[in-house]
Amino acid sequence: MLISSVTTIYFSPTGTTKKIINAIVKGMGIANDKIIDITLHKVRDDESPLIDGDIVLIGVPVYEEKIPEIVYPFLADLKGNGKPVVLIGVYGNIGEGIVLNELDFIAQKSGFKVVAAGAFIGEHSFSTKKRPIAQNRPNKDDLNKAEQFGKSIMEKIQNINSLKDVSLKIPKGKLPLIAKVVPKNSARLFTKTPLADLSKCSRCNICVKLCPMSAIDKETLEIDEEKCIRCFSCVKRCPKKAREIRYKHRFLVTNVLAIKSRDIKEPKMYL
Ligand SMILES: Cc1cc2nc3c(=O)[nH]c(=O)nc-3n(C[C@H](O)[C@H](O)[C@H](O)COP(=O)(O)O)c2cc1C
Repeated sequence: MLISSVTTIYFSPTGTTKKIINAIVKGMGIANDKIIDITLHKVRDDESPLIDGDIVLIGVPVYEEKIPEIVYPFLADLKGNGKPVVLIGVYGNIGEGIVLNELDFIAQKSGFKVVAAGAFIGEHSFSTKKRPIAQNRPNKDDLNKAEQFGKSIMEKIQNINSLKDVSLKIPKGKLPLIAKVVPKNSARLFTKTPLADLSKCSRCNICVKLCPMSAIDKETLEIDEEKCIRCFSCVKRCPKKAREIRYKHRFLVTNVLAIKSRDIKEPKMYL
């Protein structure tokens, strides 16, 4: 089968999912025809986009061991038209939960043919210098693996006559008990919205422009408590480090996160 272009679709508030997607595309060695970055509100609100690439890559971070709730409607609206798709979940070294199963379900329902999938590790959105979680992931080794994965995907597809010959079985993920019992957007229960320290802030408004929920007031720089999903894009992307993560029960939360992320996880790829 001939594949000469790829369309990438990703949600990536702190940039790690984007890094993995770019490394896979690099390994595939084909043109990235169209990038549909659904991190921004206005792109997610657009009508279902036309997908030009011969193959599609969809990448999302793992939130509460699942697909982030806010990207679900956009993904469910895509028209796959029988195109091959690669599904990627990126998680902060705690657990990928059922993200690949959910992506698989949506992709099949939207008419894609799932040809490959992978769970990779990215620095946790809640990671700080003082309390690092999966710091600097994806590292060089992760990116090499992602690149090699891209290469293998191309080899697989180029060696088949028809997508009908492909059948991919993604292992069933597990939801830990805590993810089953906590309410949606549970990050709101244990973190506060990040405040801007106006003595450091240069009023560049990058946080306002990049907020996936358009939750930051451009005059006061205050964050709407209800809209904010605690992705911490505003903390991680601030060039002046004027915002920081604020926990509600810091001792408890940071210790639970530290324990849950203790074992160093490695990427898992299905082809
Ligand atoms: C609200 C929220 C929930 C998260 N839930 C999980 C989780 O269940 N398991 C995990 O390992 N990481 C979790 N993470 C961490 C992200 O999956 C991880 O940092 C990812 O690399 C972020 O992707 P991005 O850089 O593309 O935004 C969560 C992050 C946020 C903001």
